[in-house]
Amino acid sequence: MKQLGMFRELGAPLSPLGMAHCAERKRVEQRFAHLMREEPGLGRLVSYAGNKNMPLLRLYRYKEAFAFELVEEFIRRLELSEADYLLDPFCGMGTTLLGALRHNIRSVGIDRLPIAQFVARTLPLFLTIEPQALRKTFEVLKGMRDGAEPAEIAMDVGIMRVAFQEDTLLALR
Ligand SMILES: C[S@@+](CC[C@H](N)C(=O)[O-])C[C@H]1O[C@@H](n2cnc3c(N)ncnc32)[C@H](O)[C@@H]1O
Repeated sequence: MKQLGMFRELGAPLSPLGMAHCAERKRVEQRFAHLMREEPGLGRLVSYAGNKNMPLLRLYRYKEAFAFELVEEFIRRLELSEADYLLDPFCGMGTTLLGALRHNIRSVGIDRLPIAQFVARTLPLFLTIEPQALRKTFEVLKGMRDGAEPAEIAMDVGIMRVAFQEDTLLALR
């Protein structure tokens, strides 16, 4: 119900701000119209479902993520190479950045959501971990966690409560 409130009722007049947004959207669409086309065949890849069986990417259920296959497809289409830089200004959990890494392409990602930044930053680190190091570090952290007060971190980000079960979120904090 809350989400429905974000959209105006059909036929209801737009606010001045809404009209300004529509005009700006139209302006941007017209400017880049020659670069845009619909490709319904890619629709199934604009979903995190394709990553459910992917090593590393399956560690996090980031529902806004795109399938790794989509990144691979565009790296191939654009013929990107090690000489390129890849920018993803809405990088989410870093699917694009991981795809770039796989092809030795340097990349930069931006996301406003702290959990997305955390995942995008840490995911590639799994590739550098020494055998058993993760388990050892986990044991050390577990010892530190017991008895510690939960941090206030990210409690103002609503999606945290949806992304994790209450006891998991408490443990993470
Ligand atoms: C559809 S998701 C992209 C998912 C990404 N391709 C992946 O595979 O994880 C869009 C992302 O844009 C981020 N976002 C929304 N508004 C933003 C803004 N103004 N600046 C930076 N990031 C933003 C959201 O937090 C979300 O992670």
